[in-house]
Amino acid sequence: MTMLLVRRTVQRAVRTKCCRSFSASQTHLNERKGLVLGVFEKEGGLHLTEAAAGFDQNISGKLSELLKISGPALKKGKSRVFYGIHKDFPCVAVVGLGKTSAGVCGSENWDTSKENIRQAMSAGCRLLQDLEVNHVEVDGCGDAQSAAEGAALGLFQYDELKSKKKTKVTTKLHGSSDSTGWQKGVMYADGQNLARLLMEAPANHITPTAFANTIEERLALHAQRVTINKRSQAWIEQQQMGAFLSVSKGSEEPPVFLELHYNGSPDSKQAPLLLVGKGITFDSGGISLKPSASMDAMRADMGGAATVCASIVTAAALKLPVNIIGLAPLCENMPSGKATKPGDVVTAKNGKTIQVDNTDAEGRLVLADALCYGHTFNPRAIVNVATLTGAMDVALGSAATGVFTNSDWLWEQLHKASVVTGDRVWRMPLFQHYTRQVTDSQLADLNNIGKYSRSGGACTAAAFLREFVTAPHWAHLDIAGVMSNKDEVPYLRKGMSGRPTRTLVEFAAGLTQSG
Ligand code: BES
Ligand code: ZN
Ligand code: ZN
Repeated sequence: MTMLLVRRTVQRAVRTKCCRSFSASQTHLNERKGLVLGVFEKEGGLHLTEAAAGFDQNISGKLSELLKISGPALKKGKSRVFYGIHKDFPCVAVVGLGKTSAGVCGSENWDTSKENIRQAMSAGCRLLQDLEVNHVEVDGCGDAQSAAEGAALGLFQYDELKSKKKTKVTTKLHGSSDSTGWQKGVMYADGQNLARLLMEAPANHITPTAFANTIEERLALHAQRVTINKRSQAWIEQQQMGAFLSVSKGSEEPPVFLELHYNGSPDSKQAPLLLVGKGITFDSGGISLKPSASMDAMRADMGGAATVCASIVTAAALKLPVNIIGLAPLCENMPSGKATKPGDVVTAKNGKTIQVDNTDAEGRLVLADALCYGHTFNPRAIVNVATLTGAMDVALGSAATGVFTNSDWLWEQLHKASVVTGDRVWRMPLFQHYTRQVTDSQLADLNNIGKYSRSGGACTAAAFLREFVTAPHWAHLDIAGVMSNKDEVPYLRKGMSGRPTRTLVEFAAGLTQSG
């Protein structure tokens, strides 16, 4: 009889999405509190996390009882919401975490347990956000950093420009003492969310100037350890960055060369890590105009600059003991009477001449000059990040960022970091085969497209960049495939992804250990 009553109450509560049979105490009039808990998969039974078990005990086993009677055991990522079972939490979401034993998976190249926690906490938080719960306590699930990442990444929605906005949700760790891990996770996710914000924002809002100002504002808190230079067109001309200028000249928006110095190492003389990001705030293709369908996505063609700058903001927030320099050549790629024309020849900062046969292959041009300039800082490693080629998306889709590198050591560092973050990388080739296809130009030293234009497009682009690198530890990350998310990454909503910001941060953090 009692069981029947409980079931009816649950069913009614689930149906109406509220519970009238229980009056929950609420401290503030407008505060609606919720709780997200995890439950592992276990043959023939329930396996609650430590926090969930504590909560269950607190309400005399009511949670496990409800879980049993409300349906089948929760599979990974599946959820159930209970209402009115605890006086402090009117809504409690329970989400499946998969198997306890998951761990690092050799074939998937990530830590499945961490991914499951991110997915579950993201799903639970979003469920409660949709119920207009504005304060959520989150189960640490034995890995508070991953739980925080899932929660903060899952809740992000770019609705700045909409009148109707999603409920703003504050989060807090529940049932765990690992506040350090939680804080770290929040900072990693905030970093990625900053990159998402910049990438998603329309190009008429995030112009080169607005981009640089936003980063400057975000770094203001860390002024002690950071210097910022927003270089003007005059400076870019003085630097003889002819390749960069050949892209910006078709637009009315002035270019900006953003230069960030984060001095986190106690040794101010320590050679910096150099991060370079492609910063095309809108890529129309220029005179080699792109088709209009989906051209709007090219507002995110500054994803390289966004992820690089966001990871420096995060490194500063985490006070990582490492020196980092960030460079972002920012401009629009537009067609106009002043724009570069197919067949034009331009001269890069290092004196190499480039025949611009396709003005839509502009990313490699702006990066070429930034890479030349970057070498003047004698960096310990150079990592450039760019939404460089549609061919990268064809090759790997959104599964992983493509990494082209001349350094096994650098590859190891990036790969190691990506296994932890779940924002994966995959190594791609830098064969001479591709170099030959970009060094064969009728008028100049190089051509900005491979001579068999469509074949191996991501690889010929990488080979082109290599012509501007003399450093022994360089990696080019082509992020065109991971630029946006439909539903592939379960803990990110649809939209620009901000990938691979967390991998860059984890990579930089790893360098503090490897000296
Ligand atoms: N920004 C694009 C690459 C891109 C495409 C990024 C789709 C994200 C999603 C880049 O500037 C470009 O247009 N590349 C050309 C190169 C080609 C002309 C050799 C491309 O990929 O088609
Ligand atoms: Zn382009
Ligand atoms: Zn582009």
